[in-house]
Amino acid sequence: EAMSKLTPRVYQGAKLVDDKDHPFRAPGPNDQRGPCPGLNTLANHGYLPRDGVATPSQIISASMAGFNMDIQAAKLATYIGHLLDGNPVTDLLSIGGKTSRTGPDPKGPSKVSGLRTHGTFEGDASMTRGDDFFGDNFNPNRKLFDQLKEFSKRYGGGYYNLTVARELRYHRIKQSIDTNPTFELMGHRHFTAFSEAVFPTSMFVDGRVSGPLAAHLDMKPAESFFMNMRYPRGFFRASKPGSADAESIPVVLGNDPTRVGFQAGRNVRGVKTFVADGSQGSLFSICTFYEFFVGKRIKGIYPNPTGVLRRNLNMNLQFLFDSLSDQTNCTQMFPYGRD
Ligand code: HEM
Ligand code: MG
Repeated sequence: EAMSKLTPRVYQGAKLVDDKDHPFRAPGPNDQRGPCPGLNTLANHGYLPRDGVATPSQIISASMAGFNMDIQAAKLATYIGHLLDGNPVTDLLSIGGKTSRTGPDPKGPSKVSGLRTHGTFEGDASMTRGDDFFGDNFNPNRKLFDQLKEFSKRYGGGYYNLTVARELRYHRIKQSIDTNPTFELMGHRHFTAFSEAVFPTSMFVDGRVSGPLAAHLDMKPAESFFMNMRYPRGFFRASKPGSADAESIPVVLGNDPTRVGFQAGRNVRGVKTFVADGSQGSLFSICTFYEFFVGKRIKGIYPNPTGVLRRNLNMNLQFLFDSLSDQTNCTQMFPYGRD
C-alpha cells in the first residue's frame, strides 16, 4: 500500500514514438545491427544506443518504451540473448556481431559475439532473413519479404495477421527443411520462431488502430519495419503491452500435429531428413528448455566461473528464471552454487 503510493505509475498505452527526440538515422559503419527488426528499429531511432551495444536493462526499457513490449517477454528474450551472446562482466550485449565495445572477453569457451551469432538465439527459418547456411542470417532479404507480402495477400486480404503468421511460419520451416541440410529448430528456437511470427501483429501495428483491423499489419508499415528498420512516419506504439501469448501462440501453431515443424527437430542427414527432437525443450516443454539451457548450454560456455563473472552469471540466471516463473513452475537450477 505504502509502496504503491510511492511507485510512479507508468503509462502503458499508445503514444507517439516516432517523435522529435527519436529521429531515424541510418547506422554508421561501426554501428552493430542484427537479425531482429524490432531492436534494429530501436537503435536506428535512438531508443537504444545507436552503436547497437547496450545493457540488458537498456534493451528491456527500450522495448517497452518504443514498442510497448510486455515486460516478462522482454526480460525472457533479453536474458536468453545476453547469457548466450553478451559479456556478463561488463554487462554489455551487441545486437549485431562481435565488437570490442563489449569489453574484454571473459575466459573460457564463451564467444560474446552478439545476437547475430548463428545457433545461439538466432536460428533458421526466419520469416524475412535467410538461413545462416546460405551466407547471410541477419540482413533483410527482399525475396523473403516479397514472400511475406504474397502470403499476406493470399491468406490475409493484403494484411499480415495471425492466419498469415501460421501459414508463413510453416512454409518457411518447410522451405528450410527442403533446402538447408543443416536445418535446425530446437529448444528455445522452437518457441521464439512461433512468438516472432506473432510480434508483427502485436507490436508493428499502429496503436491507434482498433476494430476489425486490430492486429492486422498493412504492407507499408511492414516494409518500413522489416526492410528499413524504421518507424512509419508518426507511428504510435501498441495500445497495450504486447508480445505473443496464450491466445495468439495456439492460433499460429494450429492444431495439426502432422504438420512438419509442429514439433521441434532438425535435418539429421541432409535436406528433407527432418526428425522431431524435443531433447532441448520446445513450445510444449519450457522447463526442458530451461534445464537444457542452464545445465548444458550456459554451463558449457562458462564451465568454472569465479569472482565477478560467477556473481554476474548467477544474477542473470536469476533474472532468466524470474522471467519464466510467471507462466511456468520449473524447478530453479543453481549450476554455480547459491550466493
Ligand atoms: C527476431 C532478439 C525484441 C520483433 C529476433 C531475433 C533475435 C531477436 C536474436 C532473430 C531470431 C531469428 O529470426 O533467427 C530480440 C531480443 C529482444 C527482442 C533480445 C529484446 C526484448 C523484439 C521486439 C520486437 C521484435 C520489441 C517487435 C517490436 C522480432 C521479429 C523477429 C525477431 C518480428 C523475426 C524476424 C523474422 O523472422 O524475419 N529477435 N528481440 N523483437 N524479432 Fe526480436
Ligand atoms: Mg534467423
